Amino acid sequence: MLYTLPKPVIFGHRGACAHAPENTLASFRLAFEQGADAIELDAKLSRDGEVVVFHDPTLDRTTNGTGCVDSKSLAELRELDAGSHFSEQFRGEKIPLLLEVLEEFGKTRYINIELTNYTSPNDELVEKAAALVNSMGLGERILFSSFSAQNLKKVRQLVPEAETGMLALRGLAGFIARNISGRQVAPHAVHPYLTDASQQWIEIAHRQGRRVHVWTVNRPVDLKDLFDWGADGVFTDDPALAVDLRGQMKA
Ligand code: G3P
Ligand code: MG
Repeated sequence: MLYTLPKPVIFGHRGACAHAPENTLASFRLAFEQGADAIELDAKLSRDGEVVVFHDPTLDRTTNGTGCVDSKSLAELRELDAGSHFSEQFRGEKIPLLLEVLEEFGKTRYINIELTNYTSPNDELVEKAAALVNSMGLGERILFSSFSAQNLKKVRQLVPEAETGMLALRGLAGFIARNISGRQVAPHAVHPYLTDASQQWIEIAHRQGRRVHVWTVNRPVDLKDLFDWGADGVFTDDPALAVDLRGQMKA
């Protein structure tokens, strides 16, 4: 499915999180309004095993709650305000369920689900996210990504028609992820950190048959370089800026 998207693909990182509270329905709607081709979101489990969309392991930075996300039930998480930390305009935004995001956008859009059970790697996140995607028949519209090779190996089995992206931390850890985990998983795409992406690096990945989606790219100079170098996609907090630059470079 990804092949039918424009190149380079512009992924709204946590939605359009330069302009709206990250990982909320408001942010995802805005990303698409700004012309993003796809959205990126972070999935993890509540205490009672529901798949919610949230980045940090703890609630403190982006809600009016405190403590670990996985220590709260879904009902407790849904009481929280995930918007007013960003601005008053977004007061009342809720932490979304993955189900809600898939219901609103899944049939018409492309979605990157990052599997973020990094503090509980043996939980049932992968199985539950895969079951949701499969029950809605959305596999071809999903790119699963993770820093965890184990997650990607599992999801390839569970949702064979979905694509996979191996996320790589910056520096040496990223080198190991790309070269060792990358071989184990054989992902469709690699997702390097911005400062690790170079033209040569992109060409090597292409020779290995992998697309390259780079995170998180917000400066015009970096967007232009990556577009010039043939990157297949970028994750950006500001989809409007990236869409505009891509248009200028194609003109
Ligand atoms: O998928 C790109 C990016 O989201 C990975 O890092 O920490 O923003 O989830 P993070
Ligand atoms: Mg992410």
